[in-house]
Amino acid sequence: MKRRDFVRNTALTALAVSIINPLEGFAGAGETYLESEDLSPGIKKDQDFPLNFIAIGDWGRSGESHQAEVARQMGEWATVNPNNFVISVGDNFYPAGVVSEHDPLWHYSFENIYTAHALQCNWYPILGNHDYGSDPDAQVRYSKISRRWNMPSRYYAKEVKLGRTSDKVLFVFIDTNPFARDEKEATDKQLIWINETLAQASADVKWKIVVGHHPYYTVGPRITNYDTLAVRQVLSGTLKKHKVDLYLSGHDHSLQHLTPEGCTPQFISGAGSELTPVKSGVAYSRFEAAEHGFMYFSINKDVIRVKAISENGTVLYETDLNK
Ligand SMILES: [Fe+2]
Repeated sequence: MKRRDFVRNTALTALAVSIINPLEGFAGAGETYLESEDLSPGIKKDQDFPLNFIAIGDWGRSGESHQAEVARQMGEWATVNPNNFVISVGDNFYPAGVVSEHDPLWHYSFENIYTAHALQCNWYPILGNHDYGSDPDAQVRYSKISRRWNMPSRYYAKEVKLGRTSDKVLFVFIDTNPFARDEKEATDKQLIWINETLAQASADVKWKIVVGHHPYYTVGPRITNYDTLAVRQVLSGTLKKHKVDLYLSGHDHSLQHLTPEGCTPQFISGAGSELTPVKSGVAYSRFEAAEHGFMYFSINKDVIRVKAISENGTVLYETDLNK
């Protein structure tokens, strides 16, 4: 065969293959199901824990009181560790929330602070007491402006799959402000919804996590404060009745892991900017630290692994909750 014919025949063969299947020449025998996140370099794959998220609370201070430093560390952490989303446990904007979805504080305290590419993921926020200082529903409406801010209502729930299995985690995001403010009608209405949501969890739900701003136990300054006691009164029975696996909150400005006897374990991640002191030596406290930072949760069907991480990236504490 003349060289000219060889080149022409080879080119035609390649063209025919590319028309039949453009990737056939590369794919070999097996078909693959790679997603973008599988191809992204830099992030370690964690085969043991298909679901990972960061929890941060009590943060919005225009970058001051170490908010910017914690935000930077969150970004660095999420760049090298798998992270599906961020949960904000409230007090998103100090001193008194936002007046609208166009309030400049969205830029001063959120968009221009949590700038890392790895933090351009879904955020699931709830409302803290400071968020009630202006228009709390402005934070719901911001969900229509922002790609990452997801707050469909003052309280809401979400079932999240554990990787590509059918196993799921149920997150119930609640608004504890009516409980702490002794607003009976709003409290009763929400409590009915919380009970129904937990009771109707699908059969595939392996873990139930409730997220609210106010703690129901704490070893911070609010250890016997009226709001801690009020929220305990409202929530304790419901958390226990539905075998909730953990309660996650903020409000006290520290990092805590508490296991009150016979109660649902609680984590406090309220150290996103300003700090308040903690009391050591309380029997039901496994860990308490008045240090700037956040928490990182890794979940599979058998284990929830929790890490408390400082603004410098130091793992201050690590624990496993087992099924
Ligand atoms: Fe608060």
